[in-house]
Amino acid sequence: MALLDDIRTRYGLPSDQEILRGLERGETLPAEFYFAPEIQDLEQERIFSKSWQYACHESKVAKPGDYAVTTAGNIPIIITHGRDGEVRGFVNVCRHRLHAIATEDGNKPLLQCPYHGWTYGLDGRLTSAPRSERESGFDCSSRSLIPVAVERWDQWIFVNPDTGATPLAEVTRDIRARTDELNTDLREYEFQVRYEYTMDCNWKVWAENAVECYHCPTLHRSSFGRTYDTGPDDYSVAAQDRDRTIWNSGPIKWLPGDAEPERLKGFRFAFTFPSSFFALDDYVGFVGSVLPLSPERCWAFVDMYAKPGADEDIVKAWLEMWDQTLVEDKRATDCQQIGYRSARVRNGRLMLDSEHPLRAFMKATFTALSA
Ligand code: FES
Ligand SMILES: [Fe+2]
Repeated sequence: MALLDDIRTRYGLPSDQEILRGLERGETLPAEFYFAPEIQDLEQERIFSKSWQYACHESKVAKPGDYAVTTAGNIPIIITHGRDGEVRGFVNVCRHRLHAIATEDGNKPLLQCPYHGWTYGLDGRLTSAPRSERESGFDCSSRSLIPVAVERWDQWIFVNPDTGATPLAEVTRDIRARTDELNTDLREYEFQVRYEYTMDCNWKVWAENAVECYHCPTLHRSSFGRTYDTGPDDYSVAAQDRDRTIWNSGPIKWLPGDAEPERLKGFRFAFTFPSSFFALDDYVGFVGSVLPLSPERCWAFVDMYAKPGADEDIVKAWLEMWDQTLVEDKRATDCQQIGYRSARVRNGRLMLDSEHPLRAFMKATFTALSA
């Protein structure tokens, strides 16, 4: 029996067809998808270990010897810039007894595991292991770090633990024209601060919050909803089912001082399944990702950038506005989790005119899990 069938029996879930029909009608995924540990295990196996996820900005590994640590789902990852100029990615787990090779970013000619000193080249090859000459038949060449796929999305480095994965450029083909334009500007922006948030909710609750703005006029009335036009005719959302990307955009409506919002490009936001996103307006931009920590906890980071030369008061106000927005999101998603956990309302009902990207996200999740 397929793994999902075991879960179905255990939680009394409807059939695949019923779940899919429900999604078509605008029902959400059943509540159990948001707290069952078995679903989380399946997501790690079928989503996070096979999907492209944002790893780091290219500046983190700009020079030979640079390396950066990150995570793809629950898989620790290290990105390296080799002496041959090649940027590679590996599972950040030593082939001896599974300690991390590095726990923070750095620059070294070789990577030495801090536990017993096995040493790897930046190309992942094991070059030496203390006392290996005393082991008969020990073969360094068969103990290289496990490679992962690495690809750039302009200045952003993405990883996929599946080395046979469809190239990122193909996965994101439909949204590229929009993100190319967005990145033309974002590339110039300067890093300001990393915001981090730990939520007491399933990672999907947080991701779903990030891809709709139906909640903006209420939840964010004094933050995001005050800054941008978030009404149904002003704020647009689009989902590309085929490439599993989501796009949001909306005009700026409020500025401190006397700047004129109508001359600005406004807010633009791109999300790629399952967990990575980047956004931009005329003052700040950001990139980030959400990661599951457990079935009912997740962590998100958001790296904030600012346009060089932009009005400092506006940039400051914008950075504060984003932190306030994300704290408000956390409060809401933590509260939703209590509702999901009760399993008393098995399916929510989406407002599809505004929330159809959530349906695309839920379909992508369900399709991956039931594959
Ligand atoms: S776990 Fe890395 S050297 Fe022992
Ligand atoms: Fe929000």
